[in-house]
Amino acid sequence: MAGNLLHVENNRIGKSDGRLADKSTTVKILAVDSYTGFRTEGRKKMKYQYKEMPESMRGTYGEFAKNFGFDWKEFIMGIPTPMFLVTTYKSNGQPNATMQSWAGFTSANHGGGYYAILCSVNKGGHLYQSLHEKKAAVLNFMSSDLYKACMKTIQNNQFETDEITSSGLTVEKASWVEAPMVAECFMNLECRYLWEKEIVPGDDHVMICLEVAGGHIEKDYMEDMFGGKGVLYNVHYPIDPEDVKEKGCDYAAALRKVNQSCEY
Ligand SMILES: Cc1cc2nc3c(=O)[nH]c(=O)nc-3n(C[C@H](O)[C@H](O)[C@H](O)COP(=O)(O)O)c2cc1C
Repeated sequence: MAGNLLHVENNRIGKSDGRLADKSTTVKILAVDSYTGFRTEGRKKMKYQYKEMPESMRGTYGEFAKNFGFDWKEFIMGIPTPMFLVTTYKSNGQPNATMQSWAGFTSANHGGGYYAILCSVNKGGHLYQSLHEKKAAVLNFMSSDLYKACMKTIQNNQFETDEITSSGLTVEKASWVEAPMVAECFMNLECRYLWEKEIVPGDDHVMICLEVAGGHIEKDYMEDMFGGKGVLYNVHYPIDPEDVKEKGCDYAAALRKVNQSCEY
């Protein structure tokens, strides 16, 4: 059968006294027929429901992080986003480097262009300022052995500093736009600034669209995208409200191949 057809049936969990449980539903999966051939007929799964912040998250980082602009849902939904280092030139000519992760990539313009959407760029940071000045940036993708050096750019964030060199990385000049790039990163995408939009008017972060002009890509990556040299993903401080731990952490994750499909 073509396409992905998922037939589901929602049943509230019945308690033994006949009342309904309030925090979860079971989903009876009757059939899954997709291009992957995945089937789980008849299996029952329970789902927790979260619409308001669970009491168990009170006093945790998941609540406190609202002060830094993060909604509690982000922490329990745990959706990974690709991680990369954005490099630009500051107005004094020094290279800037910004870790970035809330982002997506897409083709548009009837297949005439490839675009990066940086979903949440801080209007108070160097990246925002330098993108406005130069209209150019490079997105540098790091393998896990470079993760620590790239994270160092956050400490080396002074205006006067070459944030790439001071973090133990090497500056290279981009070929097609006015921006520096990081030699050690396995992929560098040269981009031009296109537009920006606030997700909600008046926000302190903004969504920015960059057009990918071209890329520099190591052969190792193309040969082993799903191995140690692939794109890293950021999982931001996952919290399980049913089992809140005193402390959590952020994770860098890699892709694992689980299914394969031909053209669909
Ligand atoms: C994994 C990771 C992802 C990040 N993603 C973003 C992001 O998407 N948007 C953002 O504004 N800051 C993000 N940050 C924070 C910035 O990297 C950090 O504030 C940086 O110092 C800003 O640098 P700048 O002033 O040179 O732009 C992220 C930090 C980390 C560690």
